[in-house]
Amino acid sequence: MGGQVNEHLRERNRALYSPAEGGAVTFRRVARRSDVPADRGLAVRIDDIPVALFRVVDRIYAMEDRCAHADFPLSNGSLAGCVVTCAAHGWDFDVRTGFDPEHPDGFPIPCFAVREEDGDIFVDIEDVTNRRRPRRPGA
Ligand code: FES
Repeated sequence: MGGQVNEHLRERNRALYSPAEGGAVTFRRVARRSDVPADRGLAVRIDDIPVALFRVVDRIYAMEDRCAHADFPLSNGSLAGCVVTCAAHGWDFDVRTGFDPEHPDGFPIPCFAVREEDGDIFVDIEDVTNRRRPRRPGA
């Protein structure tokens, strides 16, 4: 049974990764939609990148799982609407954009492209908005 499921996922991944589908072979299956809680994030890893998945109404968003302040995992924060509040020191980030809603010129969190198919969540870490900006020393 497990082998059939894995083969099914491999087939699906091959289809999603096909250049005929529009390019790079970079979407990775990371979770089931049902794994993502409603009030906080789900931590996953793609290669060496920590990724936090968040559910807002019916849509899943993926962002780097490192706070812009001091790298605390945002998946441990609390989610209210589309804003996650970091559990360490209370910085807020809109999971749809990666920006602090009160400081849209601040330090955003990198956000990754998400696809969903039949309850499976796929993330492409190559398709990223908000590349991480270096902080000033002491900032
Ligand atoms: S590490 Fe997130 S607010 Fe400080």
